[in-house]
Amino acid sequence: MDKLVIEGSKRLSGTVEISGSKNACLPILAATLLTDDKCVIRNVSTLRDISTMLKILKNLDVKAKQESDVATIEAAGYKKFIAPYELVSTMRASICVLGPLLGKQKRAEVSFPGGCVIGPRPIDIHLKGLRALGVNIKVEKGYLIADGRKMRGSHIYLGGHFGSSVLATGNIMMAATLTKGVTVIENAACEPEVVDLAHFLIKMGAKIKGHSTHRIVIEGVKKLHGAEHAVIPDRIEAGTYMLAAAITKGDVIVKNAKLEHLIALVDKLEESGVSVKKVPSGLRVKHVKKLKPADITTLTYPGFPTDIQAQMMSLMTVTDGISVITEKIYPERFIHISELNRMGADIILEGATAVIKGVKSLSGAPVMASDLRASAALVLAGLVAEGRTDVHRIYHLDRGYERLEEKLVKLGANVWREKEK
Ligand code: EPZ
Repeated sequence: MDKLVIEGSKRLSGTVEISGSKNACLPILAATLLTDDKCVIRNVSTLRDISTMLKILKNLDVKAKQESDVATIEAAGYKKFIAPYELVSTMRASICVLGPLLGKQKRAEVSFPGGCVIGPRPIDIHLKGLRALGVNIKVEKGYLIADGRKMRGSHIYLGGHFGSSVLATGNIMMAATLTKGVTVIENAACEPEVVDLAHFLIKMGAKIKGHSTHRIVIEGVKKLHGAEHAVIPDRIEAGTYMLAAAITKGDVIVKNAKLEHLIALVDKLEESGVSVKKVPSGLRVKHVKKLKPADITTLTYPGFPTDIQAQMMSLMTVTDGISVITEKIYPERFIHISELNRMGADIILEGATAVIKGVKSLSGAPVMASDLRASAALVLAGLVAEGRTDVHRIYHLDRGYERLEEKLVKLGANVWREKEK
């Protein structure tokens, strides 16, 4: 197992290029199961989660390969419909094969995804939506056994306790493309990743309207064909580097970052005193004056993303004054707090609200990464901390950040990977 070592207190400057979005790519790869034809997906990052999805496809007897940033998938005549525990248990997003398998094969057996370190992550909204489409679902031996032979279009409200659901919207949308009749999804998620999936499905011949709103209408078609698509840039990776620039008082051009995808973060950064300017290649993030504390609540898109909450908290730890962060998507997603406090931060947690009292400096320490974004938060803290930080268990980072240390080194950080002894 590897760890990341960071010698902190280096100001970052230069240009960093953002890779293709992990969370847009995963359901798009799953969507290739809806056609017998070849699909070519570009701007695919080399990440552990992506290779897990390709393994799931191969396990279904689908031809799937990735060369550099291009994935080629050919699902001609596959008959298998099982996503096994060994693969699903390593990545919850595996659930997004459920919709396409039902759409194409009218049956699916997918291991029921388990718990997760960022809190309980039920799948009731997925199941509610699929049942509304006429799918019969039972749970047996830890598997969801889904029979879609009686599927038909339906009017579905996809709301849950915490609002809309990204992957449930994707699953229902994918299942509905090949389901007879018209399906209307109310309270649909409108995250850029859902919109990108809709764009790919439309290229495949699907009839979809209203994507990027909370009401998506899908008219089922008999067949979908192969398509080529380039995945959108990763807004969470972009946000992480924007915060890396801010926390190190740097000046970084985040190439490929899209302002419209990051508007809530940009708003908060500007409010705190960080300059964010649109440039031809992306966004330029520059430290210009003493930072002010912030009050942030995570929400569904276009609100402040939960996937940037932890990284934003790292910035707040070294921002003079009291900042407040309330997590409304995953109320337990605060596992990074204890590790940040080990580095000298002053954070207390009250329910789903973290109160962060800015300190003058953080001090490097050995810390333990626990989930993908929490790990990114620890890396940011390490970049600004005095002395050496060892971030252990960085396999989490390898799930979602392509060539992280290489990109940071290019910006002037002193970071390297070491084998754990
Ligand atoms: C996607 O997960 C992302 N994953 C997550 O990113 C992201 O945090 C999340 O959306 C929210 O933006 C991928 O796209 C692969 P949800 P998803 O269903 O779709 C509750 C990362 O770090 N809920 O939109 O699974 C749920 O518990 C990951 O890259 C139900 O109650 O999230 C949460 O509170 C982590 N029942 C809220 O809804 C359900 O059936 C939103 O979750 C489904 C979800």
